[in-house]
Amino acid sequence: MKLKSLPRIELAQLPTPLQELPRLGQLLGGPKLLVKRDDQTGLALGGNKTRKLEFLIADALKKGADTVITTGAPQSNHCRQTAAAAAQVGMGCELVLGGNEPEVPNGNVLLDLFCGANLHWTTRERRNAKMDEVARQLLSLKHNPYIIPVGGSNGLGALGYVQAMIELNDQLSKGRIKVDTIVFATSSGGTQAGMVVGARISGFEGKILGISIDQRSSQEPSYQSELAAIANEAAKLIDSRYEFTEDDFTVNYDYLGLGYGVVGNLERESIRLTACTEGLLLDPVYSGRAMGGLIDLIKKGFFSLKDTVLYWHTGGAPALFAYARELTQIRH
Ligand SMILES: Cc1ncc(COP(=O)(O)O)c(C=O)c1O
Repeated sequence: MKLKSLPRIELAQLPTPLQELPRLGQLLGGPKLLVKRDDQTGLALGGNKTRKLEFLIADALKKGADTVITTGAPQSNHCRQTAAAAAQVGMGCELVLGGNEPEVPNGNVLLDLFCGANLHWTTRERRNAKMDEVARQLLSLKHNPYIIPVGGSNGLGALGYVQAMIELNDQLSKGRIKVDTIVFATSSGGTQAGMVVGARISGFEGKILGISIDQRSSQEPSYQSELAAIANEAAKLIDSRYEFTEDDFTVNYDYLGLGYGVVGNLERESIRLTACTEGLLLDPVYSGRAMGGLIDLIKKGFFSLKDTVLYWHTGGAPALFAYARELTQIRH
């Protein structure tokens, strides 16, 4: 397998810890709960994008790029981590943020600015067109830009999670632990696509269940077929013989609430419960929603009491501060 020979730079603190969540598990009275701490990957407060960026930034450097361009929502963790990675290797960073510029930069936006990124505000729909525009401008000024897609979710970025599954399997076999299901937040798809490829390669036999943050079950083409396309691209890059179809991906679409980034009771409750039982911080958009889904599934008896469920923490806590009002608002 070609994974080891592909260009990769060291940005992450690996392996990330694998820990138990005994107090949360006991309170819920369900399966045994473990957590994989990818909120502790490092790189400007950590998160799942660090692993993807190890491959993406290495590719940008190999191609002689001097500036990276990427995009996301205003509170994008991917944008914050890309800005930090660019700063670390001495590249410029242009961030195209889809949404309204906040009056006071807070959460991830504040950190984007600290890391020296230039921010371009546009609508969600115009994000890709705006990235092309910024790239053209840079080219005309004799720069060499490198565009990273939203969430770092292409085959190359997904390799970060192929690598992560190999890392997890190693931790599990050393600890003689069997995990029945991995649960985590899925959105632009690189994380889940990489995990599924990595599971096949490393022989992980448990289920991989993504909790959709913003992708709908009714969309065309289906989210699972998008995941399969990223997985096939990743498999090809490492000369793997495996091929994937949409049936290889399990996604739960029940926890979309009122939409992307809209905080509801599900997120408020899961963030509070996880913090006050385990001192573990989730975020309002991704990891809080995924944990809310997991808690609800446990309450509904979805898992056997004999199961071991691994919650893969994908980071995002810097966004907590930008959502202080929504997170503390009175519930009805
Ligand atoms: C904290 C966090 N968790 C999960 C995700 C979802 O990962 P992916 O976009 O690879 O599906 C993201 C990124 O969008 C994120 O920022």
